[in-house]
Formats: sequence, structure tokens, C-alpha cells
Amino acid sequence: MQVPKQKFEICIQTMIPSTSPIFRSLSYCLRSPVHLLFFALLLFSTLTSSKVNANPNSCQGPASIGMKDQKEHWEEIYRKKANIDMSWYVPHLDASLSMIENLNLSIETPIIDVGSGDSTLVDDLLLRGFRNITLLDISSLALEVTCKRLGNLSSYITSIDSDITTVSLPPQSYGLWHDRAVFHFLTDINDIKAYLKNLNEGLQVNGYAILATFSKDGPEECSQLPITRYSISELEETIGEEFNLIESSVAMHVTPWKSVQPFTYCLFQKIR
Ligand SMILES: C[S@@+](CC[C@H](N)C(=O)[O-])C[C@H]1O[C@@H](n2cnc3c(N)ncnc32)[C@H](O)[C@@H]1O
Repeated sequence: MQVPKQKFEICIQTMIPSTSPIFRSLSYCLRSPVHLLFFALLLFSTLTSSKVNANPNSCQGPASIGMKDQKEHWEEIYRKKANIDMSWYVPHLDASLSMIENLNLSIETPIIDVGSGDSTLVDDLLLRGFRNITLLDISSLALEVTCKRLGNLSSYITSIDSDITTVSLPPQSYGLWHDRAVFHFLTDINDIKAYLKNLNEGLQVNGYAILATFSKDGPEECSQLPITRYSISELEETIGEEFNLIESSVAMHVTPWKSVQPFTYCLFQKIR
């Protein structure tokens, strides 16, 4: 049934207060069913496009990316940047080395460096006589760069190109678990639980774990990814009752461009 044009205009005019200039121009636009249809389409497209942009991660702040994309994210970093252009670079991981030296471990101790990147910890461990070293990283490029740098010494290294939250590690295998600036990238509780499950299963009873994360007044993101910052007591609580805290400190990392990033460094022993 067709609404007579005059009746339709009256109907629209009674719905829209004529006092407001905006509503007056609206009522001018809505003088026929065709105008009304056009207006409805315009409104619909505006609403749907604002829905797509409603994701706060899509255009600002650190992106929260899925685990599949995490690998590509890190591969790209190692593809594009030299190590001295990475914020976490230091020529030697002195804070980690000092904790390891205090433990007086036998040189046969199996050691895993989780998220090793292309750090020189492995070089310094080899120099101290350790020969049973596993490097694990989500980036195969980071592992390749390290193996190339080590040359013949790389024959002492087992490298695992994998995500620490999904990998299956040989059970009760490692006497020392080292992680500098990796655990703090986990922001989802399920990933944190998966990491801790692997830590618990992979580490021998009485084995040690060194975890170093950004501290509470450290940066809120790293490599354009959000991170979780920990105090010493938060890290102790998070790792759980299977571990005793043996030593802790706040280490000031100085980036290659001289900004200071405080790290919470904790050494734990697995007690059961
Ligand atoms: C900030 S860098 C630290 C590298 C090294 N530990 C150091 O201190 O120089 C973080 C490293 O963790 C790796 N990584 C990030 N998420 C990971 C995950 N879920 N599983 C394994 N490695 C991961 C990255 O590829 C990168 O090499």
C-alpha cells in the first residue's frame, strides 16, 4: 500500500521536533520513502563500520597477536635487525652468569635457555665448560644465527625451534632452566599455565630456574607486544609452591641506545 506523500511528510514531521536545526534538516531529507531508505542505508553502514574499528588493538597500543602470528612476528625481527639494534641486547648476560656461577653446577648439568634468541649466554656457558646445552626459541632464524656464530662448538648444542607454551619437552631433563625476557611476554593465563607446566615437567627435582622479567617500573611493552611486569614476590607467587626462592635482585639493563630497563631477576629451586 502506498503512503500518500503529504501524509508521510506529516508523519515524519511529528516524529522529529522542528525546533532543532539538525532535526529540521533531517526532516527536510526525509521527505519521501526513497529518502528514508537512503538514510537507513547510510545509518546502517556507519554503525557497521564503527563496529569493525571498535577493536582497541587494531589501531593503537601494543597489539595482542595470536600464537601463530607470534612466530612470524619474531622471525621478522630477527630477519630485519642486527642484535645490537634489539633493546634487550647486551654483550654478556652478566646478571644471569653471576647467578649461575654462584650455583657451582657440575659442567655435565643439562641447561636449557628458553627464548634464547641470539644472546651470548650460550657462548659464555661453553667457555665455562658446559657441554649439555639446549637452546629453545620460537624463531628458527634466531637459532640459526646462534649456530652459525658458534661454528664447530654448535655440535654441543641441541636447538629446539618451538613455542615454549606448546612444546613437549623430555620430562625431568634439565638441571638449570634459564629465561631472560621471555616469560613476561605471556599475558594470557592459559599460556602462563602452559609455560609453568612445561617448566615443572622439564626441570629435575632440585634443579634451578632463573627467570628474569621486566619489573613493576619497567616498560609496559617490548617489541610492540604487551608484557606482564612482575615484582619479586609476584614472580615467586606465580611460579608456585613447587619452587623455593633462592636469590633475587633488580638488575638494571641498559639498552644499546642507553635507556634503563629494570629487570626482576629470580633464582628458584624446584623442591618437588
Ligand atoms: C626479548 S628476546 C630475549 C632473548 C634472550 N633471552 C636475551 O635475553 O637476549 C625474547 C626471545 O624470546 C623468543 N620468544 C618469544 N615468545 C616465545 C615463545 N612463546 N616460545 C619460545 N620463544 C619465544 C623470541 O623469539 C626472542 O628470541
